[in-house]
Amino acid sequence: MRGSRTEIPRGPVRRPWRFDLVLERDGKVSQQTQLVRALVQEIQRGRLPPGSMLPGSRTLAAQLAVNRKVVVAAVEELVAQGWLETLPASGTRVAALLPSLAVADTEVRPPRTASPVRGEASLVSITDGLPDSRLAPLEELARAYRRALRAFSRTASGYSDAAGAPELREVLSGFVNQARGLSTTRAEVFVTRGSQGALGLYALSMLTRGDVVAAEVPGYAPAWRAFEFAGAEVVHIPVDTGGLKTDLLEEKARALGGRLKAVYVTPHHQYPTAVAMAPERRMHLLHLAERFDFTVIEDDYDYEYHFEGNPLLPLQATAGSRRVVYIASLSKLLAPAIRLGYLVASPGCIRKLGETRAVLERQGDPVLERAIAELFEDGTLQQHARRARRVYKERRDHLLEQLSRSPALRAAFTYSVPTGGLALWLRLRQGSSESLAARARDARLLIASGSTYLPKGRLAAIRFGFAAHDTNELSWICDALSHCVPP
Ligand SMILES: Cc1ncc(COP(=O)(O)O)c(C=O)c1O
Repeated sequence: MRGSRTEIPRGPVRRPWRFDLVLERDGKVSQQTQLVRALVQEIQRGRLPPGSMLPGSRTLAAQLAVNRKVVVAAVEELVAQGWLETLPASGTRVAALLPSLAVADTEVRPPRTASPVRGEASLVSITDGLPDSRLAPLEELARAYRRALRAFSRTASGYSDAAGAPELREVLSGFVNQARGLSTTRAEVFVTRGSQGALGLYALSMLTRGDVVAAEVPGYAPAWRAFEFAGAEVVHIPVDTGGLKTDLLEEKARALGGRLKAVYVTPHHQYPTAVAMAPERRMHLLHLAERFDFTVIEDDYDYEYHFEGNPLLPLQATAGSRRVVYIASLSKLLAPAIRLGYLVASPGCIRKLGETRAVLERQGDPVLERAIAELFEDGTLQQHARRARRVYKERRDHLLEQLSRSPALRAAFTYSVPTGGLALWLRLRQGSSESLAARARDARLLIASGSTYLPKGRLAAIRFGFAAHDTNELSWICDALSHCVPP
């Protein structure tokens, strides 16, 4: 244990702020969490009033004798929670409008509740692996949107290409080439309303009655729905710790003959288990695609969030856009409310998607598309991705700490730690996920039962999405969950 006393100038009121902070080093609570709690207490006690400037991270780190990364991460957490705000080029200050001061206990704070859109307004959701919209650069997006809107008011027409605003297609093609190893041009990029928009347009344009699509199980039911809506039959291929079992896919492909038109996979962080598809399975899948002449639909919905080691490059980086259709989304980077995704495919496929969209909705949202192009070009989105990755890793580690410290949760679940993704896949040692979800609901927790990820039947596992909740909130959730698991 070690203590330090710091004299810090107080900003608008020039009295020194004495920061009596003792950071425990016994590993029970991370230094970041300790610093977060200490700063919140200072604000709650009124020792740091709204508007006070905080010293810079270097100064604070030196004064507290901690790594600067600890200070940076703690400040980011507090900005996300609304206690602090950053001012461009001048530093960080206590927010003018503070989060509820009625919350006196900084140890464990109830999280935000689920979206009222789902009619679950009073429940705390851990179902989806959602991002934390409090972290997203929404002010920057609002400003870019305003500029894009003004630009449109100066042009004669608001109609644009069905495949998306040319500037965004250009920017996205450069981005995926540079950051994800693809080799593509603007003509191969189609901007959609989220991944679901891409899946729906692809299914309606490229599949027909009698076609078969193979998909992972457990897996992502909204994709199955899109294929079925277009008249295709979906067959389910099991997943294990190496991702899709390609030996079983091979058997299925042989049995189906030419009817297997596509295979839908989430190879980077498999949905819902978060496992990464093993390199030899990736190669086997691409080999099968050539041999049986099917398309691989690669849903790369959260490429940004890889915490350990380097992310594996997308399958399309190896096999090209003739064999692999690549789909990505900004739902995990910003928020699902910002309906923006994209698809990278051969020019022929892009043309067909354009024909379908022209009939359905003529075009996407050129104002939003232009605004997003600007945020890619000026680096805002890339910078946000780096910051969000740091914050979410800290949250994941906090969740792992909570799971291993609670005897009830330790006894209830088995899991392995994935190298990335915004959720953990927890298998129940006993009992069903349906009864766990029902008990959790009584404790105000919204959990999806395992059957959500199956075409039929039950699965004793839950997907714990951690990213939308800060560390205090995660502590509250784990405590609530520990009272719901089977004894
Ligand atoms: C497997 C998978 N794909 C895609 C998405 C993103 O969907 P959308 O872009 O339609 O919001 C999600 C979000 O949960 C997902 O889990």
